Amino acid sequence: MQVKVLMVCLGNICRSPLAEGILKAKVNPTNVFVDSAGTSNYHIGSKPDARSIQIASKYNIDITNQRGRQFTVKDFDDFDLIFAMDNSNYKNIVSLARNQKDESKVHLILNKIHPGENMDVPDPYYGGTTGFENVYKMLDKATDVIVKEISNL
Ligand code: 4NP
Repeated sequence: MQVKVLMVCLGNICRSPLAEGILKAKVNPTNVFVDSAGTSNYHIGSKPDARSIQIASKYNIDITNQRGRQFTVKDFDDFDLIFAMDNSNYKNIVSLARNQKDESKVHLILNKIHPGENMDVPDPYYGGTTGFENVYKMLDKATDVIVKEISNL
């Protein structure tokens, strides 16, 4: 069975495109489908932020073909696991859940490496490039755990 994983942030141009690209690079696409979305409609159809493209390419990951889209209720039907980058994204996603099954699919991504701490992947949009390196490292560690968990499903 193919596991379907959705990475979600606010704009779908900085953090979740990186999370999508990093996880995709670690899995067999036959076994794992990975996508990303934003809770907002700010950047529908946009390419990832140039700084996300840059940090991904530094680690040999190409995210240039991704385009921004907004999270919709249908994503609860289409995905098994939904990872929110921060607490605000988490609340926004859960507010759209229709039932307990929908809600149970949503997780804060950094709880994979800091269980129960409910930490945010900091929004790097208004910061410099160091923010993106920091985000990359956090997502690299968290996706390692996600890969292990998926392979045990
Ligand atoms: P992201 O970063 O949620 O990691 O994609 C942001 C991108 C754009 C905006 C906010 C956060 N914005 O306000 O346009």
